[in-house]
Amino acid sequence: MTSLTDVSTTAPAAAAPYEAEVNRRRTFAIISHPDAGKTTLTEKLLLYSGAIEQAGSVRARKNQRNVTSDWMALERERGISITSTALQFEYREHIFNLLDTPGHQDFSEDTYRTLMAVDSAIMVLDGAKGIEPQTRRLFEVCRLRNIPILTFINKLDLASREPLSLIDEIDRTLNMKAIPANWPVGTGSFFQGIYDFDQHNVLCFQRTARGALRAASRVTTLEDPALPGLLGAYNWNQLREEIELLDADEREFDTARFLNGQVTPVFFGSAVNNFGVEPFLEALIRLAPPPRVTESLGDPVHPASADFSGIVFKIQANMDPNHRDSMAFLRVVSGRFEKDMIVSHPRLKRSIRMARPHRLFAAERETVQEAYAGDVIGLTNPGVFVIGDTVYSGKPVQFPPIPRFQPERFAKLVNLTVSKNKQFNTGLKQLEEEGVIQVFYGQHFARREPILGAVGELQFDVVVARMANEYGVETQIMQQPYVAVRWVDPAALEAATAGRSTSLVQVTDQQERHAVLFPSVWDLGYLIRQHPNLVLSDAAGNPLGAEI
Ligand code: G4P
Repeated sequence: MTSLTDVSTTAPAAAAPYEAEVNRRRTFAIISHPDAGKTTLTEKLLLYSGAIEQAGSVRARKNQRNVTSDWMALERERGISITSTALQFEYREHIFNLLDTPGHQDFSEDTYRTLMAVDSAIMVLDGAKGIEPQTRRLFEVCRLRNIPILTFINKLDLASREPLSLIDEIDRTLNMKAIPANWPVGTGSFFQGIYDFDQHNVLCFQRTARGALRAASRVTTLEDPALPGLLGAYNWNQLREEIELLDADEREFDTARFLNGQVTPVFFGSAVNNFGVEPFLEALIRLAPPPRVTESLGDPVHPASADFSGIVFKIQANMDPNHRDSMAFLRVVSGRFEKDMIVSHPRLKRSIRMARPHRLFAAERETVQEAYAGDVIGLTNPGVFVIGDTVYSGKPVQFPPIPRFQPERFAKLVNLTVSKNKQFNTGLKQLEEEGVIQVFYGQHFARREPILGAVGELQFDVVVARMANEYGVETQIMQQPYVAVRWVDPAALEAATAGRSTSLVQVTDQQERHAVLFPSVWDLGYLIRQHPNLVLSDAAGNPLGAEI
């Protein structure tokens, strides 16, 4: 067993005035299947960092949120997290930015964007269940970007699966080498503590009522003669056997492979009882990498450089009924952000003032005076930002576009509150700006009813709920029998099909760009086979084939 190396100083030292600020930051997300313990672990990280004094407040907010609107009710009904929050907290000179990822498969696009903005992820598994479907999906999104992952196996205080079989499952099903950083001492009601492979010591915990306060712990070595008595003969023997077995196992912790997402350090614990939370927080400092160097279409952008740059990765309106506005979430990519600074906004071809920047702690807002790479700022967004916008103060930078998923579900949205046409259109525009859906208008349809395109069905439910709550418009979804959309130059389509293009379902998007909807993959393939020179593309203009 090799020890886990400190990777916290990996940001290279170029001309980097803000290196100290960058190196003390960790920006990460928690990925998990619903109920594995994401909210509880978040809360306990806050408790141990000192950001909250008593556990219970995050959960209280989660519950409060659940009753504030029907949209939230939708979230509660389905047991999923639709909204996203960015938390910032400090611990021992370090600053953590925790981005909450929406938990449902239909929101993979939104999740993808959030995961674009982190430098590492924590994968929380339920010790009784191991890898569940949603863990897997979120993991796959991380894999697309090779995000380093730390694993926390939770709920060891309940009847759990054998730790060795959990390690094995990660290896096998995720094709990611799992290296235990610590090991549980006993499980279920006999779960007493963890053995730390790095420090070679045993941490024994004491339970507190629902883990509201930090758990008292006692650190000792394996050689401590009091240990067998403390753990009981069964746990003591089992621990020694398992440590021997794992020590003999050839599991190298390779830092480079961890940073590439090919190896994951595994920690055991019980978030609700605070067992193993503190060592995990310490490990986050040691292992989770600081903000990275980011590819740009010019030179790579160093996070600690003098020039400020940032990218908008998420837009969300009406997050809080007290502030009915739209918030653009920007990740600082490099340099120092200052409130009211003037930055270039290349898409709008003008300069803008970064007024009213906010930091979010759950539902609360606080004005930000300054921020550094890895930090996330909420900017109230009166139509200034769309997803993927880059802003900068020095040398122009252009980050690669944030990929969009292709819509696979289509439905007409019928406005049932005809007197509120204006609100209907405003809501539609906003929801599209947020990336919830894409909006099309049929060319040959008698009525100009919008056709929505989405990655998953649930997005339509969200549109209906938000239209009613936030814009006062009752709407109805009418499913449409299409499975794919391709953008196309109308003149080229007309020429290629020799005037017979009207048999195709043609639409325009909100920017009046031309596209075709296909009722089946076969139809799409047929058009491609018949007209191999016709360029069909995605919304960003990248040519696409018949795959969906
Ligand atoms: P999520 O955000 O991933 O959906 O999970 P969440 O933290 O809300 O946890 C889901 C349930 O699991 C909660 O119980 C929570 O208390 C429980 N839980 C989390 N960590 C542990 C743990 O280490 N051990 C045990 N035994 N339970 C844990 P609930 O009944 O849904 O809510 P509550 O009534 O406890 O608030």
